[in-house]
Amino acid sequence: MRIVLVGPPGAGKGTQAAYLANNLSIPHISTGDLFRANISQGTELGRKAKSYMDAGELVPDEVTIAMAKDRMAQPDARNGFLLDGFPRNVSQAEALDEMLKSEGITLDAVLDLEVPEDEVVRRIAGRRICRNDSSHVFHVSYSPPKQEGVCDTCGGDLYQRDDDSEETVRKRLEVYHTQTEPIIDYYRNQGLVVTISALGKVTDVTKRAMEALEKLQ
Ligand code: AP5
Ligand code: ZN
Repeated sequence: MRIVLVGPPGAGKGTQAAYLANNLSIPHISTGDLFRANISQGTELGRKAKSYMDAGELVPDEVTIAMAKDRMAQPDARNGFLLDGFPRNVSQAEALDEMLKSEGITLDAVLDLEVPEDEVVRRIAGRRICRNDSSHVFHVSYSPPKQEGVCDTCGGDLYQRDDDSEETVRKRLEVYHTQTEPIIDYYRNQGLVVTISALGKVTDVTKRAMEALEKLQ
């Protein structure tokens, strides 16, 4: 399947993507994770992205689209993918459509995770991520690690993202409403949008998402 995951910052896209990609045997492609990996490796791409990310703004389209295309061209994405955080505005959605069209393929679904804003703020404020692997995600109250500051899975250090400060989160939410939400209408016109509530236990949300996707198959 070819799926786009959309939802506000902190909705649980990364958390759900890890389970869904595993269940569906498709790669999880997160542009946020790709940028963070480039930043920690000190690449030119990471250097370009960092100032935008720290300010809660979108990284320019030409940089983002080229990076996403490059990742989607890898062999493991040939038969499907789960895109998390891309596209994030209408011009990225148009670029993705063009790219898929040139290969004669289409998206199967756009899974829209709905969460009220106060819950999003709580989820982001308590999020802790592993330095070794960004898919090891914890929350100080909702899914606390057994030992404070230490990843249960690999023993790595847990840290709080630079862009998870209150001020930057406010900016990210504004960017989501003004630039990203319009892609939901864009895809609704193509009949692709499936909206589910992302409230409740992580496993319940995964179940809801799988049921919604199975109905489409
Ligand atoms: P990105 O990394 O994509 O961040 P985001 O969209 O803001 O999303 P988050 O990673 O903050 O949240 P999430 O929805 O994945 O939530 P999570 O699963 O961690 O992008 C970061 C930046 O990169 C952007 O601001 C931009 O600068 C740049 N960028 C990226 N893509 C771009 C693009 N296409 N174009 C331009 N720029 C781009 O969950 C959050 C917390 O909640 C965790 O602690 C988790 O444990 C907890 N949690 C999850 N589910 C539940 C649940 N059901 N119940 C309780 N707690 C839960
Ligand atoms: Zn870890």
